[in-house]
Amino acid sequence: MTHTELIAKAREAMKTAYVPYSHFPVGAALVAKDGTLYTGCNVEGASYGNAICAERTALVKAVSDGQREFSTLAVAANTDDFCTPCGICRQMLYEFAPDLVVLCSDRDGNYKEYTLRELLPGAFSAKDL
Ligand code: THU
Repeated sequence: MTHTELIAKAREAMKTAYVPYSHFPVGAALVAKDGTLYTGCNVEGASYGNAICAERTALVKAVSDGQREFSTLAVAANTDDFCTPCGICRQMLYEFAPDLVVLCSDRDGNYKEYTLRELLPGAFSAKDL
């Protein structure tokens, strides 16, 4: 799948976002090492701290399906600038895929490519325990 196609999958996933509080839908599309695609959206609750981001939704779906290694993640939102994963998502993604390629897109599908190591320098990980 091309980067553009992966971003289109993330934009598709935005459609099921449950965001009655922030009105800020986000979609994510995560590719496992075996090529399987997992999508996710953000899901909020009246107790605002319950919210789970699109990226972690996709990751949790994948890990609960038995996946442990990932190659690429696309993130989509209706933003002027490129939408990047929040700190909690970066940390949780790092657990499984420190070398993940992260495609951060804007409302028009333009994107900027990062590695997760770039987005989370000096990450805490199992080796630090
Ligand atoms: N959100 C995501 O799903 N991913 C991001 O990368 C940034 C933030 C969600 C959390 C919350 O539902 C809403 O966007 C506003 O912060």
